[in-house]
Amino acid sequence: MIVSVTLNPCVDRVVFVPGLRVGDTNRVERVETDAGGKGVNLSRVVAELGGRTIATGFLGGGTGAQIRHVLHSQGVHNSFVEAAGATRVNTSIESGDGPPTTLNEAGPTISEEEWHRLLAHCENLFHRADWVALGGSLPPGVPPDAFRTLGELARREGCRVLLDADGEAMRLGVQMRPDLIKPNLREAERLLGTALPDRSAAVSAARDLRSMAENVIVSMGKDGAALATADGAWLGRSPQVESRSTIGSGDSMLGALLWALGEGSDWPEALRWGLAAGAATATTDGSEIARKPVVMLLYNEASVERVS
Ligand SMILES: Nc1ncnc2c1ncn2[C@@H]1O[C@H](COP(=O)(O)OP(=O)(O)OP(=O)(O)O)[C@@H](O)[C@H]1O
Ligand SMILES: [Mg+2]
Repeated sequence: MIVSVTLNPCVDRVVFVPGLRVGDTNRVERVETDAGGKGVNLSRVVAELGGRTIATGFLGGGTGAQIRHVLHSQGVHNSFVEAAGATRVNTSIESGDGPPTTLNEAGPTISEEEWHRLLAHCENLFHRADWVALGGSLPPGVPPDAFRTLGELARREGCRVLLDADGEAMRLGVQMRPDLIKPNLREAERLLGTALPDRSAAVSAARDLRSMAENVIVSMGKDGAALATADGAWLGRSPQVESRSTIGSGDSMLGALLWALGEGSDWPEALRWGLAAGAATATTDGSEIARKPVVMLLYNEASVERVS
């Protein structure tokens, strides 16, 4: 089973305002809302592919209830810790020309008591898990080394650990040496402190990052992904698709990859499923994620080649 932990989930709210005028009164054409957050998306993909998963983390207030409702309607098992502060809302405004304007909230402040309640709750859930997926941003109040603490807890329960985060939370988190990290090119540059200009640089970056994690994927959007494990290195090609919104592509790649490992795939084969799911999510609108039939179809068009 795959347990995902999202400490700072969000309600994704997309507001469509054709021809937005800043500083004026605007007419909203329509609003779409969805559940968001890295672990939440990852669990949705695992569930979509028929795998076993539980999403956990903090939820609070009416917005938290909304997320629970969405996950329930999508058949995604979840077991969140109730926090006093309301779950945040991330708003993006689609004006019809150019990329959307996004407004991301920091999230509610988590108390020390709530944090300890989450750790106890996770200890229980991790007991039944093969993989624990940690990632996303940390809400205010949670210690900066939260991912290291959760990762060590998961390992004590015999789980393998995926960490997908950025900045200080990631730098401190990798101190427990996760079993898998998946930085994109920009995140890999920040972890290594060097520029990565092309696809071949991604392969050596994945190899270098094995100093921080047992298995490393450096993802490159439509240009695919590099994989490094103790057994070698591979370069994967993404299926060519017409991209609509890549929100959740990284999370979809990871959900499909962990699902495939659970089904008995080896790492390059699991990466191929990941490439298919990442591309499948790129073909969907807004925060929507990959559907199984599309993933199956694109799996045939993804490829992974050994490079060393
Ligand atoms: N436009 C695209 N066409 C085909 N595949 C894509 C596209 N965008 C993303 N993917 C697939 O999804 C994977 C992950 O995407 P990307 O490298 O953008 O991750 P990310 O930056 O972590 O994304 P996220 O915003 O979800 O965190 C890629 O390796 C690729 O397989
Ligand atoms: Mg990402």
